[in-house]
Amino acid sequence: MKDLVGLRETETADIENILSVAAEMKKILNQNVKKTNHLSNKSVATLFYENSTRTKTSFEIAAKFMGAALSGISAAQSSVQKGESLIDTGKTLDALCTDVIIIRHNASGAPHFLAKNVKASVINGGDGMNEHPTQALLDMFTVREEKGALKDLNVTIIGDVKHSRVARSNIWGMGRLGANITLCAPDTLLPKDIARTSVRVTTDADEAVRGADVVIGLRLQLERMKSGLIPSINEYNELFGLSERRMALADKDAMLLHPGPINRGAEIDGGAADAPYSFIERQVTNGVAVRMALLFLLTRG
Ligand code: CP
Repeated sequence: MKDLVGLRETETADIENILSVAAEMKKILNQNVKKTNHLSNKSVATLFYENSTRTKTSFEIAAKFMGAALSGISAAQSSVQKGESLIDTGKTLDALCTDVIIIRHNASGAPHFLAKNVKASVINGGDGMNEHPTQALLDMFTVREEKGALKDLNVTIIGDVKHSRVARSNIWGMGRLGANITLCAPDTLLPKDIARTSVRVTTDADEAVRGADVVIGLRLQLERMKSGLIPSINEYNELFGLSERRMALADKDAMLLHPGPINRGAEIDGGAADAPYSFIERQVTNGVAVRMALLFLLTRG
C-alpha cells in the first residue's frame, strides 16, 4: 500500500493487518512513555481544507508520539487562498521531503487525485460525501476491542446517511469483516443508490435499533444540505434521535458509537451520549492507535 484513500479499494487482509497493528499501538498508548522512534526520519503533513478536531489532532499526536517531523497546513491560512491548486500544493509538500500527506477536502475524490500526482503517501482524512476510512477503521477497532470480531454482528447506522462519508466507509469496511448492516434515516436522507447495496434499509428508527449489537449515530450535516431535508430538529430528534428509550431496544450489551462532533438534542440525547454503553470517548483514543498503525505501515517502504 502506498496510500489509504478509501476502504472501498482496500483488501480485507489489509484491513485486518491495520487493525492488528493498531492493537500493538494501543499498548504503547497505555504506557507512561508513549514515544517511539518508528517515524524518526520521516515527515508528515496534515492538509485540511475543512474543519476538524478529532482527525487532524489525532494524526498530529500519532505522528509526534512516533517521532516524525510534523507540519499542519490549514487551507484557510495557506497559499491555497492565493490560488494554488491541489496538485501544486502536493508537489510543494513533495519538494519539502514529506513522506505522508493526510488530506481532508470537501470534494469527493480529492485524495485519490492527489495520490496519483505526488510521491508521498496519501491518507484520506475525509473527502466530501465519499469516504472517511480512518474513522471507519477506528470504529471497527473499537467494536473488535469490545466484541472480539465484527462477523455476524448486527450494526445499525442511523442518521444523515446521505451526506455521511463515515457511513460509506463503514458499509465497505464492516461489510468486508462480516457485519450485518442496517441503515436508518428519513427518505430524504438516504442516498439514491442505496438499493444497489446489500445493506438493510428502514425508515423506522425503533425497528432499526431493536436487537442491534452496535448502534452508530450520525451527525445531521446541515452544512451539506442544499435545502430543508428535515421539517425541524425537534421532529427529527423525536423520530430518529438516539435516546435512552431507543437504546433500551438494542441488545443488552449493545455499544453506542458516534464519529463526532455530536449535537446533543439533535441526533443524540445527552443521556445516551453519556451512558455506560457509549464508546464515543474510547473511539477518540482508539483513533490515535489506528492512525499510528497507518503511519507505521505506509512508511515502512
Ligand atoms: N470524526 C471526525 O471526523 O471528527 P472531526 O471532524 O473533528 O475530525
